[in-house]
Amino acid sequence: MSVSSSGSAAYSGSLEGSNAQRGLWSSRLAFILAATGSAVGLGNIWKFPYVTGENGGGAFVLVYLLCIAIIGIPIMMAEVMIGRRGGHSPVNSIKAIAQRDGLNPAWKLVGAVGILAGFLILSFYSVIGGWAISYVGTTASGQLSGQTADAVGAIFSGLLSNPGTLLLWHTVFMALVMLVVAKGVRSGLERAVSILMPALFVLLLIVVGYAMTTGHFGQAAAFLFQPDFSMLTTSGVLVALGHAFFTLSLGMAVMMAYGSYLPKKISIAKTSITVSVIDTGVALLAGLAIFPIVFANGLEPGAGPGLIFQTLPLAFGQMPMGSLFGTLFFVLLIFAAWTSGISLLEPIVEWLEEQKGMNRTVSTLGAGVVCWALGIASILSLNLWADFAPLGFIPMLEGKTIFDLLDFFTANILLPLGGLLVALMAGWVMSKPAMEKELALSPGTFNLWFVTVRFITPIAVGVVFIYNLM
Ligand code: PHE
Repeated sequence: MSVSSSGSAAYSGSLEGSNAQRGLWSSRLAFILAATGSAVGLGNIWKFPYVTGENGGGAFVLVYLLCIAIIGIPIMMAEVMIGRRGGHSPVNSIKAIAQRDGLNPAWKLVGAVGILAGFLILSFYSVIGGWAISYVGTTASGQLSGQTADAVGAIFSGLLSNPGTLLLWHTVFMALVMLVVAKGVRSGLERAVSILMPALFVLLLIVVGYAMTTGHFGQAAAFLFQPDFSMLTTSGVLVALGHAFFTLSLGMAVMMAYGSYLPKKISIAKTSITVSVIDTGVALLAGLAIFPIVFANGLEPGAGPGLIFQTLPLAFGQMPMGSLFGTLFFVLLIFAAWTSGISLLEPIVEWLEEQKGMNRTVSTLGAGVVCWALGIASILSLNLWADFAPLGFIPMLEGKTIFDLLDFFTANILLPLGGLLVALMAGWVMSKPAMEKELALSPGTFNLWFVTVRFITPIAVGVVFIYNLM
């Protein structure tokens, strides 16, 4: 993926100057690939199926889809727009807009929320990325062939009960992420996204094909798409909202950073919709791949974070050429997680570079190592500290381990909060003519977007927050 001017490192971190000096994405496709690389990851394949299972299926999926359409896409447009208008890294973009449009510089808080969220998410994301790495060996060795659900479950519990192995793979994953962020050059990675993402899609289709042979495909489709509102709780709505932000990489200023490289002539609305549709498509396919296997083997849909590791290996153990497909699948999953992980570490590294004057290697090492160390708490939450619920005295956090708390606090609180600030900024304080020019929509469509970010998003996020915190 090349950029049209000034160097190969598209959004590398040398963020001085305006867009014109920084080199823009060469095309709409380049931006879509980078944004998709960030959006499609463990959120789609690991998290979506398990939170859907935990929250009762269809009604949850419907709320999640509504959140994507009504909240996610408009916020993504707002983020990309702020980034492009600002033309700098998120914190400096907001500063630049604040100066130009006369806003209060306190809006920089959006950037701060993003930096903190990315750092905290990466600490546990890397642990799950490590699970995926470990499963490459498990599938490649053929030990899953013809296994029963119990045996596959035992392999997974074996992994979780072993802090040393978890630490090893967590370290490998974090090192992969740090390597790319330290180098600051991602041109090769974007090219890889254009090949590996479609490959992941095809492999998911193969698993869906297998899932159709289990005889439980209809039941799974009904579970996913027939809403049963009696299964929906207020906390389920919060999880659906948080997941919409998490899966689209929103509320964290990532899309803002990428947007600052988007050439002016490219439509922000079309690109945002494309990225969101791809991301949602991958998640739904993952659901269609996994739930038939869950029902065919009498497994529990609400089994939690281990769901894909207890179901997909069963499919790979039973289908023809399963070891090959399984190995390939987990390699591609690592890749998808890797490109997302990079976008999680990037904001804090950029901030250390710009605001603290540290060089890129030192900031990557510093932030990466601290994040890695925090990841150890998530690893221990899976075994030695499995019963340790530090905030268990708060009713809604009862029984939540450190890992659960990090997930809850980032996805369900920080990201929607970041998104809320973006919506308020675009809806209430930024110059309207400037936004009209930036988005270049028909007046009707612009107003629809404007009303959404001005009223609908803040009210929806506010109501969900208030209901859950009461
Ligand atoms: N969207 C990524 C996923 O679904 C996770 C992510 C969240 C990445 C926020 C960047 C920012 O896996």
